[in-house]
Amino acid sequence: MKVSIFDYGMFGEGVARLNNKIVLVPGALMGEQVDVDITKEHPNYTQAKLNSVILPSPMRMNTPCGYSECGGCELMHMAYSEQLKFKQLLVSKTLKKVAKIDVLVSPTIAAENQFNYRNKASFACNSLIGFYKKGSNKIVPIAECKLVDNNINLALNLFNDFIKQYAPAGIKNLVVRSIDNQVLVAVVCVKHIPLAPYIQLLKNAFKKVGVYLVINTRKDSVVLTNNLTHLYGIKQIETESFGIKYSVGINSFHQTNLDIQNKLYTHVLSLIKPNSRVVNGFSGVGLLSALAAQKASEVVGIEIEKSAHNEAENLKKANKIQNLTNICGDFLVKFNQSMCDTLILDPAKHGCGKQVMQKVIGVKNLIYVSCSPISMSKDLREIEKYYIIEDVQPFDMFPNTTSVETVVKLKLKENL
Ligand SMILES: C[S@@+](CC[C@H](N)C(=O)[O-])C[C@H]1O[C@@H](n2cnc3c(N)ncnc32)[C@H](O)[C@@H]1O
Repeated sequence: MKVSIFDYGMFGEGVARLNNKIVLVPGALMGEQVDVDITKEHPNYTQAKLNSVILPSPMRMNTPCGYSECGGCELMHMAYSEQLKFKQLLVSKTLKKVAKIDVLVSPTIAAENQFNYRNKASFACNSLIGFYKKGSNKIVPIAECKLVDNNINLALNLFNDFIKQYAPAGIKNLVVRSIDNQVLVAVVCVKHIPLAPYIQLLKNAFKKVGVYLVINTRKDSVVLTNNLTHLYGIKQIETESFGIKYSVGINSFHQTNLDIQNKLYTHVLSLIKPNSRVVNGFSGVGLLSALAAQKASEVVGIEIEKSAHNEAENLKKANKIQNLTNICGDFLVKFNQSMCDTLILDPAKHGCGKQVMQKVIGVKNLIYVSCSPISMSKDLREIEKYYIIEDVQPFDMFPNTTSVETVVKLKLKENL
């Protein structure tokens, strides 16, 4: 049947109306007339499958990726300018819906590259290697992902050659990180397997490469465990940003898109007043802490992962930063308000949670960095009546996907 698309859903689906009910059509664009088949009826909405586009939008693009089953890039058929508008609206709608916060959201800051921007990827593996089909545990075999750095695609293809020739049993994942032509590879297995032939292929292909074997017998979705053995080459990537030298291991958090990381950090710095006392909660390998230390009188970074904390300590030493203290531990336990007048919160995807948000109420300036509009809105809902929201700035860390990074600046209300 024929429907007209008038809006976008949370996952970039086209939204139409049929018999007074919302219909979600993945792959359809605003302003288009499309032919669809209903796939599932829910109490409040209907799901449909796009058959054909009758009237295409000028924003429709040919996708350069041939793996339609993978489902990782929900927006690849959308012109980049439309993707940026979609993300700005997504942040604004989510804040309104989840937190009843009605605030001006600035236009999304664009990424320089819409392709090959990811510096890390995690592939699923059995006798095939690729990505899981959306909502399933079926592997879609991939030979080239358009979003990842070319070195990552090369390491993937060499691994494919290796598993085709040796058919080793017990492999779960391949994780590859590539920054500045330095490549770290982790092969995740349920048991020890001989990797010498793969290491030889990597040695021939890359000047600087390091290989880890990770044993993981977990049944959940966690990929990298602490049971890792360094097998060959470099142990970590040594790099530099903003003139600060630092290292990144295979299992520490690092921002995925370096161009947007730098734009985002520059923005966060612009929100910090000179000589303030800053806590960088959820501080990772500490690059943002080091940058903040150039402007603030003192900075404390709090990070729970030992490996990331150690890298933050090395960064501090290598760059001789005097006014920075790195604490290893849970933010909820280690933080107290006397430490700062400005608090940066950059939690993982699930957000900070109620307890953390209750604990921070009273800090004068909050800079909340988030990769999930939903968890961000839930967190901000906890503190919204105590703060004025001064600025909401989305960044396009992940072009062609529906993910968006957002920085929110909040100021404590006076006379509370
Ligand atoms: C989204 S990353 C941000 C890292 C850093 N701000 C950056 O820009 O690279 C979140 C970090 O929070 C850390 N983390 C997660 N839970 C934590 C907790 N309860 N207390 C402190 N750090 C935590 C993770 O290990 C990870 O390094």
